[in-house]
Amino acid sequence: MTRIAFIGGTGPEGLGLAMRFAKAGEEVFIGSRSEQRAAEAVAKVLEKVPSARVSGGLNAEACRAGEIVFVTVPYEAHKDTLASLAELIDDKILVDVAVPLQFGGHGVRALDVPEGSAAEQARALVPNAKVVSGFHHLDATLLQNVEKPMQGDVIVCSDHRAAKRTVMELAEKIEYLRAVDGGVLANSRYVEEWTALLLNINRIYKARTGVRIVGI
Ligand SMILES: NC(=O)c1ccc[n+]([C@@H]2O[C@H](COP(=O)([O-])OP(=O)(O)OC[C@H]3O[C@@H](n4cnc5c(N)ncnc54)[C@H](OP(=O)(O)O)[C@@H]3O)[C@@H](O)[C@H]2O)c1
Repeated sequence: MTRIAFIGGTGPEGLGLAMRFAKAGEEVFIGSRSEQRAAEAVAKVLEKVPSARVSGGLNAEACRAGEIVFVTVPYEAHKDTLASLAELIDDKILVDVAVPLQFGGHGVRALDVPEGSAAEQARALVPNAKVVSGFHHLDATLLQNVEKPMQGDVIVCSDHRAAKRTVMELAEKIEYLRAVDGGVLANSRYVEEWTALLLNINRIYKARTGVRIVGI
């Protein structure tokens, strides 16, 4: 059994993933900058998943508690947050869900990241960690709607084969999702950028879209 911890787990995406993993029987820890917000998030998880094994606390505690640590903060907070927690994350598996996006009147666009992608930025900031990118295409509202199955694929990228395999197995604990090996971490830029396209399609169709790779 793996304890999955979330840095910035109080937002919709971290909460949604925590609920789904808790429903699958995994133990989860919600990290926050505020003990109170973490406690409120724990209550929300328990409300949706009464059997959840869930606790919460500060982000630093999440880094200590988690065997696998997810980072689910907005891209604007990604750099400073990871820099401040790098020593605590150390050589753990760090799952980066952050998407560098800019929202404007004409739609959503992917931001250029000097390192190539948010995930590669994470690798530069937390060099000991086994950085894995994934879960970008799972809509937070759908994730929190735990009574309904999810649809689609989770494309997972990493330079650490064993860590990637572990995270792919974890993704498939969420009912009906399929994990797809997206190759090396440098491919994360395409996965991240694709999220901007999905959000623009969501606006056009007033929908919550995901991704399914065909032909495998
Ligand atoms: N929402 C989605 O559907 C979705 C889907 C796929 C991927 N993502 C990605 O997942 C990440 C999280 O998404 P979200 O919608 O859950 O984000 P969010 O609600 O904007 O932020 C998540 C949490 O991050 C913490 N945070 C916010 N600003 C911060 C700052 N300046 N410094 C440190 N921590 C800060 C907050 O927790 P505390 O205040 O409790 O510390 C907040 O609850 C984003 O990078 C997003 O691109 C989102």
